[in-house]
Amino acid sequence: MKLAILTGGGDCPGLNNVIRAVIIQGIKKYGDEIFGYLYGWKGSINNLIKPLTLADAEGIFSQGGTILKSSRTNPYKVEDGSKKVLENLKLNKIDALIAVGGEDTCGVADKLYKDFKVPIVCVPKTIDNDLSATDQTFGFDTSISIICDALDRLHTTARSHDRVLVLEVMGRHAGWLAAMGGLAGGADYILIPEEKFDIDHVAKSVAKRKQEAGYAIVVVAEGAKFANEEVLKDQEKDAFGHVKLGGIGDRVAKAIEAKTGMETRASSLGHIQRGGSPTAYDRVLGTRYGLHAVDLIHDKKFGRMVSLQGNKITDVSVSEAVGTLKTLDKNFYEQIKIFFGDTIKAKAKV
Ligand code: F6P
Repeated sequence: MKLAILTGGGDCPGLNNVIRAVIIQGIKKYGDEIFGYLYGWKGSINNLIKPLTLADAEGIFSQGGTILKSSRTNPYKVEDGSKKVLENLKLNKIDALIAVGGEDTCGVADKLYKDFKVPIVCVPKTIDNDLSATDQTFGFDTSISIICDALDRLHTTARSHDRVLVLEVMGRHAGWLAAMGGLAGGADYILIPEEKFDIDHVAKSVAKRKQEAGYAIVVVAEGAKFANEEVLKDQEKDAFGHVKLGGIGDRVAKAIEAKTGMETRASSLGHIQRGGSPTAYDRVLGTRYGLHAVDLIHDKKFGRMVSLQGNKITDVSVSEAVGTLKTLDKNFYEQIKIFFGDTIKAKAKV
């Protein structure tokens, strides 16, 4: 068979492990020919394609990013975009396509499958861990490890200067990165997009923590809402209608300082938490996903997305995964809240 693979949306450590597994499984197990579309859906619209050989899989297991590059192009927002995707699949005689991405990339795959019966399977990817129908996406483990490392470093400097430090992390709609990274990195207060926060309560609680420990650490997800508003970098929207978030860490730090008089500074991890080598966990998860994606194609199970359930790799229909995001597990969050802002009984506004 002739298989093509593309990687779309924000890049993420572990993408190269998926690509490597697809190349090796396709060529060695099935005798397939493998091709890569460059820049996600953009490459499939503009026919930016290249053959992938075993040599391309060499040494990429430890590299972050994606050797196929990525973009946030949406074929349904480009004139004749979906038509061009189909024409190019035909032109290159591609028998099946593997789309590796999050809600947006998989959403397009789902539409192409439903509208035109494109033989497609998806592999779930996002550092935000907010894709439904899978227990975890690869990239998330690497990202929380980076957040944890950053918090370890912030602890030592915060303690040396008796400061309050605020760390802004990614997480547009879901607080997985903030909660898991913050839990691992010993944060004193965590602000997530799923729960409105009361800045007076945050300030009081942080002040109490500073009295007890001499310093305090706050983690805030970029999508957490300040006074009910998203804090934006600018007004620009991408092809999937997403605004650019950023700046809430500064706003929270300024408010804490104004309300308590305590010196408070903010740092933003930004794209650092998306770059660099994948953890061993993400390398293995990406590899297992890639192997299963090729098997799905040979079993002619199109319109499916590979999925982790418990410790098993299985598959679900792509439709199950898109449409509703997987936000932070409420029970888990309630359980870990004892560590965050617990010096005064939490009273988040709902
Ligand atoms: O891919 C998910 C993500 O990392 C989000 O956490 C973040 O909001 C967004 O991508 C940033 O995307 P970009 O790099 O395109 O600005």
